[in-house]
Amino acid sequence: MPLRPLRLALFALCLPTLAVAAEPDLDNGRAVNGTCAACHGENGQGGKQGEYPRIAGQSAKFIEFTLKSFRARERINLPMFPYTQERELPDEDIRDIAAYLSAIELPTKPPKFKDDDDALTRLTAMQKVMIIPRVEGDIAAGGAIYQDRCTTCHGNDGRGKRIVPMLAGQYTNYLMRQMEQFREGVRPHDEEQPGEGVLKDLKPADLQNILAYLTTLQNLEDKQ
Ligand code: HEC
Ligand code: HEC
Repeated sequence: MPLRPLRLALFALCLPTLAVAAEPDLDNGRAVNGTCAACHGENGQGGKQGEYPRIAGQSAKFIEFTLKSFRARERINLPMFPYTQERELPDEDIRDIAAYLSAIELPTKPPKFKDDDDALTRLTAMQKVMIIPRVEGDIAAGGAIYQDRCTTCHGNDGRGKRIVPMLAGQYTNYLMRQMEQFREGVRPHDEEQPGEGVLKDLKPADLQNILAYLTTLQNLEDKQ
């Protein structure tokens, strides 16, 4: 088999290239984020009290899955639809932006500055701090419902996993709007029939209580 050594060598040459191609390119992710930043902010922190949700720190799997479901109109998002089209956002860009955003950590407390930190350093660091204000509601009652019905997927710490999004550290208004959409069957949650599922028989006060509870989970430092 005279060809064999050559084929082996070619195969060995191809290996690193294949590995690199599968790795997300964070520089490209940063470049793509220029488009997203117009609405979601430079650090993916969202804005306008949750009209634009926080996307930093969500799992890469959830971001990828969500961008593809916007593109396929499985989840309707009119403002974002044009940005998710294949020409604007090919699959490699989706992979890269998802990896880039998921790696951004937004602290829940202002950092401790050194005396010689200049104004720009302080401003840049403060822009990343993400604190969701407490909202009205019965935290204990909300916690009981959350423990009973939500932790299996969203986790005890409200941080989700894989395609289950984090709820802790997300804007309260945004979460309420999403829960209403789930209940109306406008956005699929995790059920066979639209509008059925874990949220169906809850009262508006229950939803408010869950949100009040979630604002107590955001502080990673407190949980440790
Ligand atoms: C024109 C404004 C706009 C731009 C630009 C934009 N988005 Fe959005 N995005 C929105 C709005 C509005 C929502 C919330 C939709 C809703 O209420 O369901 C959203 C929702 C999302 C969500 C869902 C978050 C969640 O927790 O459910 C993700 C992920 C997301 N955007 C990622 C991106 C990425 C990545 C980019 C850049 C490629 C981007 N967006 C660009 C407006 C925008
Ligand atoms: C069986 C798993 C499962 C359970 C149980 C569950 N969820 Fe979810 N949840 C999901 C998944 C998956 C998504 C993402 C759905 C999608 O975008 O298609 C989600 C999304 C959400 C969102 C939207 C967040 C965002 O950033 O867009 C909210 C709010 C939410 N769930 C609240 C709850 C609450 C409150 C409970 C308990 C009463 C609950 N969920 C129980 C799986 C679950």
